[in-house]
Amino acid sequence: MSDSYAPSAELTAQANGQADLFDQAEADFEGFWAAQARERITWSKDFDQTLDWSGAPFAKWFVGGELNASVNCVDRHVDAGNGERVAIHFEGEGGDTRTITYADLQREVAKTANALVELGVGTGDRVAIYLPMIPEAVFAMLACARLGAPHSVVFGGFSAEALHTRIADADARVVITADGQFRRGKPAPLKAAVDAAIDHGDDESPVEKVLVVQRTKGDVEWTEGRDVWWHELVERQADTHEAQAFDSEHPLFILYTSGTTGKPKGIFHTTGGYLTQAAYTNSVVHDLHPETDVYWCTADIGWVTGHSYIVYGPLANGATQVIYEGTPDTPHQGRWWEIVQKYGVSILYTAPTAIRTFMKWGDDIPASYDLSSLRVLGSVGEPINPEAWRWYREHIGGGSAPIVDTWWQTETGAIMISPLPGVTSLEPGSAQRPIPGISAEILDDEGKPFTEPEKVGYLVLTKPWPSMLRGIWGDEERYKETYWSRFGPKYYFAGDGAKYDEDGNIWLLGRVDDVMNVSGHRLSTAEIESALVSHPAVAEAAVVGANDETTGQAPVAFVILRGDAAQRAEEEGDALVQELRNHVGKEIGPIAKPRQVLVVPELPKTRSGKIMRRLLKDVAENREVGDVTTLADSSVMGQIQDGLKK
Ligand code: WTA
Repeated sequence: MSDSYAPSAELTAQANGQADLFDQAEADFEGFWAAQARERITWSKDFDQTLDWSGAPFAKWFVGGELNASVNCVDRHVDAGNGERVAIHFEGEGGDTRTITYADLQREVAKTANALVELGVGTGDRVAIYLPMIPEAVFAMLACARLGAPHSVVFGGFSAEALHTRIADADARVVITADGQFRRGKPAPLKAAVDAAIDHGDDESPVEKVLVVQRTKGDVEWTEGRDVWWHELVERQADTHEAQAFDSEHPLFILYTSGTTGKPKGIFHTTGGYLTQAAYTNSVVHDLHPETDVYWCTADIGWVTGHSYIVYGPLANGATQVIYEGTPDTPHQGRWWEIVQKYGVSILYTAPTAIRTFMKWGDDIPASYDLSSLRVLGSVGEPINPEAWRWYREHIGGGSAPIVDTWWQTETGAIMISPLPGVTSLEPGSAQRPIPGISAEILDDEGKPFTEPEKVGYLVLTKPWPSMLRGIWGDEERYKETYWSRFGPKYYFAGDGAKYDEDGNIWLLGRVDDVMNVSGHRLSTAEIESALVSHPAVAEAAVVGANDETTGQAPVAFVILRGDAAQRAEEEGDALVQELRNHVGKEIGPIAKPRQVLVVPELPKTRSGKIMRRLLKDVAENREVGDVTTLADSSVMGQIQDGLKK
């Protein structure tokens, strides 16, 4: 029996997103999006065609229009007389704070843009950004956007190796980084990883300049002629910058994400459509009222959520927002709630893994802060289990705040399936319906749409949308193959399993491909497997995403060791397993470290040699092992289980 929660009349009355949006989008799809684009975005030159889908699956939105994303996020708010409005309340992990108004932001972005020009960055050049959660990350992204230089932000938790691959793939000329970052009360180096990513074996790095923010004041290696301090270069620049308008389809950024192979995909987004949908969704889904709300999205700018819902959406809308540098338990487990209380945060957007962690820490922690300012809560990154949903509403949302469970992807650029807080009766655990302007269906194995409740199928998107990816950087074929071939060219295949309930709500059921979701971060099994086999002790590896109470899924690795290493494992036991875990940490980043590494004599394979991860998943999740009849050697699972019992 569903226990849905209807919005209060008060909430509905003031909501940005009203029920008639659905009718408008239904009646005139293109007209609806054209209106969003004109209403929410300032164009230097109006567009003459809303959608050009003639080159499907490569879309063009708002064709002929020209705009500058940075001007939309900054200058126009100052021009409208809102220069004194706070754009960013920055809270450092150690308690240092900065208050940045829109007028300040305009000056900082202009100085940064001028500095990048001095470093030789021109329109179309790629800039890699490898920074912690500090305001300079926002300045850097907006400065790139201002110059029409696509940025490629690499999450600060990724290793030198991962950074190297991403710099090389995007052919980035400049890297923006910091000496280090504060994590759990301690400085952790960052620039060293940039050095290692550039001085990487024998291939020549495209990087000419490294711009370094001084954050932790730790020691750094310095390469004369290449490395430049931010405080020396940026600070001496003029604080005005005349921005040029770019074509609506000019590339705005590349963001790498995991796919089913070991090679990360450079998802790229362009300007007009992306900005339109980011601004629209932040307005109607988060219900942002820029004059009165204090908004906080806890994501890192290294992920798409940070791009769309810290930088582009909220700033395009003129929001006042909080940016917090550190971890939720530093210096104590009430840090987030202290921040909510301090700034009067009214909209909080976070991930289920964080909510489950807070549940574990105990109800009394949030209860000792005043959270009454919170009026809308959001969730993103993975399915939120109904228990966590109820806890979130009760203990964070005062028993009354609506929760918008937002489904979307790096590829979709912005929210696609979500309740509208003033319209939807909420169903805990379900992302519910496509938002106005978006169309989704669920297909069966044969690719036929169905609507029967409780039947499991594949989520597809049936119409192009403004913030859709425009491709995979440098690999048109992979784009078509990955997203538009499984069910033919009419359907964008998202890679997620889904079902309807009897009320027609969509429930997302997790990835159906070899991608796992760890604390809302996408990792591919293939990426972790190739990291493992790059270790001299490993002959073969298979990785699965096993259910995990806190992180949603966790990587569990099954490895076959090489002869001499097998000997070592007998003697040293855990030491080798630790070494392998650390090796993955070094190759990809700490989030990818397997929760367990199980040494096995064989891996279950089909006759065509494909590893049957489903069976390994059964083992990793302590279940009875499923059907083994398609295995080339059906005794393998027995051998694995016997080995693990030892
Ligand atoms: C999953 C993050 C269920 C999904 C914005 C998707 C979700 C992948 C939800 C994209 C949600 C994201 N409910 N699953 N509300 N939000 N996902 O690219 O599997 O890091 O395909 O983008 O996260 O992850 P990505």
